[in-house]
Amino acid sequence: MPLKQKPPGTLISFEGSEGSGKSTQIVRLAAHLQKLKREVVSVREPGGTEIGEQIRNIIVHNSRGDEMCAETELLLFTAARAQLVREVIVPALVRGCTVLSDRFLDSSTVYQGIGRNLARDPVQQINQFAVGNVMPDLTIVIDVPTTLSLKRIRQRASDVPDRMERENISFYNKIREGYLVLAKSMPQRFVVIDGARTEDAIEKSIWAAVKPRLG
Ligand code: TMP
Repeated sequence: MPLKQKPPGTLISFEGSEGSGKSTQIVRLAAHLQKLKREVVSVREPGGTEIGEQIRNIIVHNSRGDEMCAETELLLFTAARAQLVREVIVPALVRGCTVLSDRFLDSSTVYQGIGRNLARDPVQQINQFAVGNVMPDLTIVIDVPTTLSLKRIRQRASDVPDRMERENISFYNKIREGYLVLAKSMPQRFVVIDGARTEDAIEKSIWAAVKPRLG
């Protein structure tokens, strides 16, 4: 690490607000890829490694989490990502797998940079340090109106909203807008999918974006 040359695998990240339907669509995309006999590795952030899951627990469920400052939050998310990249993502890409990541470095750019108002340059540098030169080949942003995203969070069965989910509507408006601006600035890497449609329609749009990019 970092990689000396581009490995044969493909890294696709999924981004969007909570309740945008990323996890459902990752399962559906994995099924398409497996039909083509591709080996798929699905990971989620923060987490995906033992160290990462422990970090996730601190960030999301720590009862004193409300006292966590934005800088700590950024460093914890990126620490979990650094581990995931080296322990899971790079070996999978070297084996030629398609890696589907439920969130990647753009989540830190948007949530900590834009949502928490941390300065852009340090966020970018820390992000870059954490991932080395492992960047997504494609990033799919599932865009949903904030009201819909909040409605889905509240409808989620069984759990009490976690620390991030307790943020207010203006925070989530900033997140949504942040993703749209970021996607516009890097159209070669990003595809924005309208997530306010049926799951089948969203699946179709995602497959249409992914298929031509497969080697
Ligand atoms: P999830 O609900 O999609 O699993 O994401 C967990 C929460 O962590 C979600 O509120 C987004 C947030 N998050 C960040 O704030 N920064 C990050 O870098 C990542 C990966 C997630």
